[in-house]
Amino acid sequence: MVARWEARADLVVLGSGVAGLTAALRAQRLGLRVLVVTKAAVGDGNTRWAQGGVAVVLEGEHDAGDSVDRHIADTLTAGVGLCDEDAVAAIIAGGPAAVARLRGLGARFDARDGLLARTREGGHSAFRVIHAGGDATGAEVERALVDTAGARGLPVLERHIAVDTLRTPLGAVAGVTVLDPDGVPGVLRAPAVLIATGGLGQLYQATSNPEVATGDGLALALRAGALAADVEFVQFHPTVLYVPGARGRCPLVTEAVRGEGAVLVDGAGAPVMRGVHPLGDLAPRDVVSAAITRRMAAAPGGVDDHVFLDATGIAGFATRFPTVHAACRAAGVDPVRDPIPVAPAAHFACGGVATDTAGRTEVRGLYAAGEVARTGLHGANRLASNSLLEGLVVGERAAEAVAADLATGLLADPRHGRAPERGLAGVVERDALQRVMIRYAAIGRDAEGLAVAGSVLALSTVDTPLWTHEAIEDAALTLVAGALLTAAARRTESRGCHVRTDFPERDDPGWRRSQLVRLSPSGH
Ligand code: SIN
Repeated sequence: MVARWEARADLVVLGSGVAGLTAALRAQRLGLRVLVVTKAAVGDGNTRWAQGGVAVVLEGEHDAGDSVDRHIADTLTAGVGLCDEDAVAAIIAGGPAAVARLRGLGARFDARDGLLARTREGGHSAFRVIHAGGDATGAEVERALVDTAGARGLPVLERHIAVDTLRTPLGAVAGVTVLDPDGVPGVLRAPAVLIATGGLGQLYQATSNPEVATGDGLALALRAGALAADVEFVQFHPTVLYVPGARGRCPLVTEAVRGEGAVLVDGAGAPVMRGVHPLGDLAPRDVVSAAITRRMAAAPGGVDDHVFLDATGIAGFATRFPTVHAACRAAGVDPVRDPIPVAPAAHFACGGVATDTAGRTEVRGLYAAGEVARTGLHGANRLASNSLLEGLVVGERAAEAVAADLATGLLADPRHGRAPERGLAGVVERDALQRVMIRYAAIGRDAEGLAVAGSVLALSTVDTPLWTHEAIEDAALTLVAGALLTAAARRTESRGCHVRTDFPERDDPGWRRSQLVRLSPSGH
């Protein structure tokens, strides 16, 4: 790929969701020349689809008995032994200040009786999830950040997709190659690159994630030599709206609906969660998704493809949950009168590029924050509404880390960066990949299925000579799928979102550790 244009910055931020824009705005404030690159329009990422809220314990506003320590304890419980306890403590302790900064940028959260309104979600032992617009928290967070970026003239390259990192002879990252909206290749030289590209839900046929969630950042980091961890832990949200034959992003039915009293029932009206977990319908997400999957598999007459969420007892549903209400009505369901058909769908990558809590990766000049990163906050299963929090806290810290590393002369001179001499590796056709992943690598995996998926991947991989936005995404999905399948096959136990039918028990202490993934020098 021969670059036909070039630009320079101190920091290139890939992605314009909560982590990317938080980092970019902070870096700009610190006097850095920042360039944000986003493959869609700014604001089009996953952040705006987040519903439930931001989990945070605010001094003077929390329930009697709730505390930062309890939030930490709930996070560790949900993460089933794989969280990094220092990271959990550091990120959660940073929550109140991060929320205060966001409110300072104009984000408006729902209030009740003069205080911020709070709801509860799966795995939380208290009402501590703040929200906006009822169930449109991500949209409000993103709006505030995008408006601020506009007002401050933050430079954003929209519809540009990153292809590869530039590397110096000593292996430091020194920029990225990108395709512009017309597919014309260019080079962005910078001593620091922050990956904040979000998740990988599009690996699966059923996902709550939008079309842009194609694992690009994780693939880019792996190709740059970075370590990834916990990639086998893909969280399935228990309740997306089930619409027969629908394709693309499945509308989320926020867990806060269960937080306000809705109950999961099967086709015969029997409660799904009774006797499964002490928290019942508000058990951690992995437990609820697995219970629904078992109940669907045990349906009389064969496998059911959905259960129901009975929210008919919630007063003022349309006002409290306007997004869910509108999605249901568009699908011909009236949640005020009828149970909502729901099913689990891929929702969140708990693992990702291994970083510290300031976004630093193992590769000099390369940083990551948000869903693409694995700080150790989530372990084997993320606690609901901890992800916007993580994006806000680590985004800010990553900008500060870049500024500090620049000031101490730790980063490379971007003039020495070279694009790697490689083409796009083979890719699997996206529909086929999504079908294979949902069948063999969703909830309930076994050695045989994972091997079948691996061989389908190997057999159906074709080389693509074309450098297009779509081909870059397909190559990323293929690379990430391979890493996920390998890690899932190796982990011979069930833990958190990684459910193995052939190894149904947790193996402590044997598997109470994260698996690290790195590409071999040949790129596999
Ligand atoms: C939800 O509202 O149920 C999703 C929130 C999250 O994924 O953290």
